[in-house]
Amino acid sequence: MQDNPLTDKVALITGGARRIGREIACRLHAQGMRVMIHYRSSREDADAVLTELNALRSDSAASVRADLTDAAAPDQIVLETVHTFGRLDALINNASTFYPTPIKDATEQQWEDLITTNLKAPFFLSQAAASLLDEYHGCIVNIVDIYGHRPLESHPIYCTAKAGLIMLTRALARDLAPTVRVNAVAPGAILWPENDADEVTRQRIIARTPLKRMGTPAEIAGAVEFLIRDASFSSGQVITVDGGRCVVP
Ligand SMILES: NC(=O)c1ccc[n+]([C@@H]2O[C@H](COP(=O)([O-])OP(=O)(O)OC[C@H]3O[C@@H](n4cnc5c(N)ncnc54)[C@H](OP(=O)(O)O)[C@@H]3O)[C@@H](O)[C@H]2O)c1
Repeated sequence: MQDNPLTDKVALITGGARRIGREIACRLHAQGMRVMIHYRSSREDADAVLTELNALRSDSAASVRADLTDAAAPDQIVLETVHTFGRLDALINNASTFYPTPIKDATEQQWEDLITTNLKAPFFLSQAAASLLDEYHGCIVNIVDIYGHRPLESHPIYCTAKAGLIMLTRALARDLAPTVRVNAVAPGAILWPENDADEVTRQRIIARTPLKRMGTPAEIAGAVEFLIRDASFSSGQVITVDGGRCVVP
């Protein structure tokens, strides 16, 4: 562990209590990082991860609660992180909302919610973290989506937000250089949305995926780890982890 360049460095993972965010937090912690797990409503899940990780190494994990639609949240989350751990080396913008917004009945409230959680909050978190990341030569990893490159039917606002986050990745890679690298991971189908039980759609998506299966949260976490630890000469890039979905129509 002593030779690992991530030992004792600090990662902030938004939406890190459950699902993919939890896997990212545990993976980075296993590499020796200390982790700040941001959550909104999943307090029990956040507490469970903290218990698990702090049992492995004491005081190596903490949590912060905030609703990213609150304009004060980005500063609060970053301040809490530096107050707890004294530094910040990696910001992982993972938190997201995802639901359909067909053009015929989408609302302004849905626009605000989807654009804020998927795009505005990552921007202001990056702004709040920029000087710390600069000081520690850190990096940002944005979790985007293959649907930021190609539209998913009936999800125009979500797709627009993720497309914006891909451009934000490139724009900040330019503006935060040369000290801070900014990259992204674009998952394909990894975990189904919890409120979506459409088995026919699920099977159709897998059938259209050249590798004929869903991905795993561990495969996303592995790409995040690579970008933080190994991709020292990469910035402004998006790693697609989609089982080849993007190479077929
Ligand atoms: N799942 C997939 O197959 C898939 C595919 C493509 C891309 N992605 C991307 O991968 C990332 C993780 O996916 P996922 O499916 O694990 O995400 P998820 O379960 O849909 O959401 C992750 C977390 O975001 C947090 N969140 C949502 N709205 C918030 C708000 N207003 N304020 C603060 N936190 C908020 C929630 O925290 P609480 O639970 O604490 O409220 C939630 O647990 C996302 O960026 C997603 O777009 C996922």
